[in-house]
Amino acid sequence: MTSSYEDGPHMTMQPWFNDAKLGIFVHYGIYSVEGVPESWSLFDGVMPHEQYMRQLDRFTASAFDAAAWARLFARAGAGYAVLTARHHDGVALWDTQLSDLNVVRRSPAGRDLVAEYASAMRDSGLRVGLYYSHSDWNHPDYASVRHPRPPHPELVASPYVSPSPGAEDPRAWNRYLDYRDGQVRELLTRFSPDLLWFDGEWERSADQWRMAELAQVIRDLAPETVCNSRLLGHGDYATPEQGLPISAPESDWELCLTVNDSWGYRPHDVNHKTVGQLVRYFAQTIGMGGNLLLGVGPRADGTVPPEQARRLEGLGDWIRRHSEAVHASVAGLPPGHHYGPSTLAPDRRTLYLICFDPPSETVCVRGLRNAVRRVTVLGAGTELAHRRTGGLHDVPGDLWIDAPAPSDLAPHGSVLALELDGEMELYTGQGRG
Ligand code: GLC
Repeated sequence: MTSSYEDGPHMTMQPWFNDAKLGIFVHYGIYSVEGVPESWSLFDGVMPHEQYMRQLDRFTASAFDAAAWARLFARAGAGYAVLTARHHDGVALWDTQLSDLNVVRRSPAGRDLVAEYASAMRDSGLRVGLYYSHSDWNHPDYASVRHPRPPHPELVASPYVSPSPGAEDPRAWNRYLDYRDGQVRELLTRFSPDLLWFDGEWERSADQWRMAELAQVIRDLAPETVCNSRLLGHGDYATPEQGLPISAPESDWELCLTVNDSWGYRPHDVNHKTVGQLVRYFAQTIGMGGNLLLGVGPRADGTVPPEQARRLEGLGDWIRRHSEAVHASVAGLPPGHHYGPSTLAPDRRTLYLICFDPPSETVCVRGLRNAVRRVTVLGAGTELAHRRTGGLHDVPGDLWIDAPAPSDLAPHGSVLALELDGEMELYTGQGRG
């Protein structure tokens, strides 16, 4: 399958990505030691540089067990994970040869966490994603050129990002790019990731980043590695963040979302979404043809906080019960036909209506041209009676399905499976003029 996200050397969307539906986004790094915002506490000056970096000394990863992560993510129903191999603070989680700033050499963890993560995910059948920030606020050559037209001026006004006027040093910048390209090469050749999740691109222009060249390097080395859109014109799919799009992006896409309000571990952030809310985010996302990339922020010892693990497992319970409507499905009805989200089987002959609140009396579908052979409650198997009212000439009328019995309802949302007499056909007109 080829995406039409953008023109460029990067058109490699792989079928596994759209079939997976759920990924887990792990922000793990030295910021978990003090529980401060990942890298941003450095940028914002919330923490002096020296204090931020001293977290290295207490980053033990003493209970880091990548196989336990993989089991948890599989129980959550995820098909892939993405780990912050290197965030904006420049601290690599693998034994990079291009910088001393990595947890293998500079922290008591002393282990290549990316290597352990990648093999554990693979062993559990999960696809391996690696997050990598173009920017590195700790690299001596990074703050050497200025963005010609920064899209977010307030986000480049930092001595970690931009040189003071007159202090530009293009040769230092070229060295920086060689370092970034070298690290991307390392990630590709050492870990063969299925997905590279770039970030930090807003601090330079596409030309400054040499994005076209980087995209070509990735294509040549790893033609099957999927890349997100933060390659400024060369990615495979769009990345809305922290809020559902109102209408589906035209390309392949993935919503990234935190479980509480933070990406990394922050013990004081207890604003966790409920399992019910996560089910809604997930169902709305897949109903519009997207994936959900759900964040977790492990503690410094490597364990996932139980309040996050419980929520992942809750979502997993819902996904397992409704797997038929989830995995390998495609976007369902456009808005207006059903009051909630819906998905469609890949052969387009079964429509899955997702009903969040217990339906009372009936569930109505408008504009469905197909005859409906059977309606069942997914997971319970019970068949529901249905009938059609109205309909005139071209207008198919309305389908009314009897509400399921309370004992057949699933926690957080029930799914009604409609077997159609053929591939789904919709009426989307305005009725008789
Ligand atoms: C933002 C933040 C970063 C986080 C990312 C996840 O770009 O800079 O901290 O990793 O969002 O999408």
